[in-house]
Amino acid sequence: MKQREGFSSGLAVFLVTLSSAVGLGNIWLFPYLTGSNGGAAFILIYLLCIAIVGLPVMLCEFFMGRRTKKNVMGAVTTLSDKKAFKSIGYLGMISTAMIAFFYAVVSGWVYSYVFKSIKGIFKDVTTEGVKEIFTSHTTAIFPPAMWVFVVLVVVSVILISGVKKGIEKVTKVLMPILLILLVICTIKSLTLPGAKEGIEFLFKPDFSKVNMAVIVSALGLSFFKLSLGMGTMATYASYYTKDSNLYGNAAKVIISDTLVSLLAGLAIFPAVFSFGLDPSSGPSLLFETIPLIFSKIPGGSVLIVAFFLTAAFASTMAIISMMEVLVAYFTEEKNMDRTKAVIMITSITFIVSAITSMTVSGGVLNQYPLFDLFDKITSSIFLPLGGLLIAIFIGWFINKKDFLDEMSNGGTLNNTLAAGISYAIIKFVTPILLIIVFLSSIGVI
Ligand code: PFF
Repeated sequence: MKQREGFSSGLAVFLVTLSSAVGLGNIWLFPYLTGSNGGAAFILIYLLCIAIVGLPVMLCEFFMGRRTKKNVMGAVTTLSDKKAFKSIGYLGMISTAMIAFFYAVVSGWVYSYVFKSIKGIFKDVTTEGVKEIFTSHTTAIFPPAMWVFVVLVVVSVILISGVKKGIEKVTKVLMPILLILLVICTIKSLTLPGAKEGIEFLFKPDFSKVNMAVIVSALGLSFFKLSLGMGTMATYASYYTKDSNLYGNAAKVIISDTLVSLLAGLAIFPAVFSFGLDPSSGPSLLFETIPLIFSKIPGGSVLIVAFFLTAAFASTMAIISMMEVLVAYFTEEKNMDRTKAVIMITSITFIVSAITSMTVSGGVLNQYPLFDLFDKITSSIFLPLGGLLIAIFIGWFINKKDFLDEMSNGGTLNNTLAAGISYAIIKFVTPILLIIVFLSSIGVI
């Protein structure tokens, strides 16, 4: 049998896992959901979701991956002979594919905005101008599909290069650059006149906006943000080193990812308020408000390239982690050659994403809202359902001793208490909470 690849060090384990979590979710979803759902009140609920659901599910996925050293389907079938649990594998792969179908479209828009920024299109642009640029790009047929193609070619090249020589190597270069670029944008935004209002907006809790729908969207965001409920983290954990500290890594990834989200919020809202723009302008925040802001800031024509490059790097690494779930499955379970598997998966993704790009509002196929459908179904149903199945699987069908053994690296780490508490949460708290929220999201309660 061919020797299985793996990451080379603890730092690689941390950075690669973080590179899956950090993505358009931080730069786009987090700021705009926070903005329209009560600022700090939403952040608080989001953090609670992470503590009660996100961290436990992440630990479960880490356990599945590193214990078995297999793709998500291989992991469930190795850990249990109950056929029903294969649903975790199938649901996971369907979810990653569906997310990739719309995510690649947005990533394509981001790539095109990097290009547009370099060309200087946003210099002295007006409010109507940014709207016009965005609408004419997203409703066109050819350019969005072409940019999806570019994104997927980049993704394919990195994936074909392999786990260590492709994913790990690129992550080690891109993640630090991404963080530096984001920090520069944040500092610039925070030093604008009137920035204080934006900070207040982000951190002043407004609990009057909180209702069940807000809780459901915070939960959905925590899954999407941390790439949970679909085997992405299990797949990456299958490449971890034997001595990686699973618990410590989960904590580091979650804290860093949340910090990146907050940094993105601090890069966006102070500037939004400084120029008297609408903070809850939704998805257009990234593609209309941001270019408008940069067009008014000294040095903005350089910063805007930095900003969209950050988003491009982040979205590329996130798509790589989605695709790797499928690549690992086809190479290990179906004995496919890695290059062939990558080309097959990215080609299918390209075709469906290109069609999806025409279904956005104003697009030629907008009577079939595939874009919104993929987004809604995965975030509010598939990911929480996947998380629920994973928690039930680990909590009720896996020996507690095995779980504690894996968390403590065979007893060499002293974390029995923390891991024991996590196990109890996985067994009782996470499933109950997920069932309640899930039933509510489909309107049963
Ligand atoms: N975590 C990514 C983000 O926040 O943008 C999105 C994501 C990555 C979802 C990987 C699913 C996945 F498998």
